[in-house]
Amino acid sequence: MRDKNATEMHHASPAGIARAAEILCSGGIVAVPTETVYGLAARADSDAAVAKIYAAKGRPSFNPLIVHVGSIEQAKALAHFSDMAERVAAAAWPGPLTLVLPRRDDAVLADAVSAGLPTIAVRMPAHPVMRSVLAQSGVPLAAPSANRSNAISPTSAAHVLTTLEGRIDAVLDGGDSQEGLESSILAIRQDGTWEELRPGPVDLSLLHEHFLGQPLATVKAVQTVEAPGQLPRHYSPGKPLRLDALRAEAGEYLIGFGEVEGDCTLSANGDLAEAAARLYACLHLAAQSDCPRIAAAPIPRSGVGKAINDRLRRASY
Ligand code: TXA
Ligand code: MG
Repeated sequence: MRDKNATEMHHASPAGIARAAEILCSGGIVAVPTETVYGLAARADSDAAVAKIYAAKGRPSFNPLIVHVGSIEQAKALAHFSDMAERVAAAAWPGPLTLVLPRRDDAVLADAVSAGLPTIAVRMPAHPVMRSVLAQSGVPLAAPSANRSNAISPTSAAHVLTTLEGRIDAVLDGGDSQEGLESSILAIRQDGTWEELRPGPVDLSLLHEHFLGQPLATVKAVQTVEAPGQLPRHYSPGKPLRLDALRAEAGEYLIGFGEVEGDCTLSANGDLAEAAARLYACLHLAAQSDCPRIAAAPIPRSGVGKAINDRLRRASY
């Protein structure tokens, strides 16, 4: 492990962005802001750089990474786009949607990125800082969430440092992530069928109905290793978490919503987008508090509420 002082901190100024791109081009790993959560980026075409991501996170090698691109041309050099995939990408990119598509044989990618799968996960992010980093790096960037494996995802530079300080080359501070939850993941199969692998900020049922005129069948409760990040236990705050709580019991740190006022409240006026943006910050506060247990208020399951409930449920195991 590196010296604790070795992680450089940079504001997302032109100089900070240029330094991040320089580190990435030379094979280093940098935490960068995106609109969903902070990502831990490395050039996706380098075995050595991608290996550093797995080592820093303590991530099992069977869990593949999302490749971030700055343009549709970059994405098409990595994956086969059906007409449908192209239309979905045109509608949703740049933005918080990841597409899992057949990997091209001639894709210039480190093998570890797709962990031996015949598919590749690609996303064109919307965050202006991440877009600048991608443009200046000139290569696709592999980036999982910038946290130790199984820890709470980061929505600020400070969150990144709580688990990765001293383990990564630099953090680029671009303020709080606006969406606050990881991207929605949609697999588009060669036979034209769709599968929702992870709920997120983009409502896939709306997208699906728009494109196919029929509802999206969601994945079954038991996941295959195909989407290992979807294992039931994930996003762990390291303490027991009780769901659908209307009040705190002794020793509980309460995460509130709407009428249920907590020690940290996701949204006092019941706004689900605000709740999504604040979820991980509240979980970080709860994890750091003196309380041995956490409780969370009920959250409606409509819209992005589905993804919020998904993350809370995974954190509660
Ligand atoms: O919003 C996000 O998606 C953030 C930001 C940084 O872009 N990234 C993120 O990465 O959440 P990560 O590694 O925490 O989650 C990636 C998920 C994992 O569940 C992984 O198993 C899945 O994507 N995945 C990656 N490649 C896949 C593939 N070829 N097939 C199925 N699932 C895949
Ligand atoms: Mg993650």
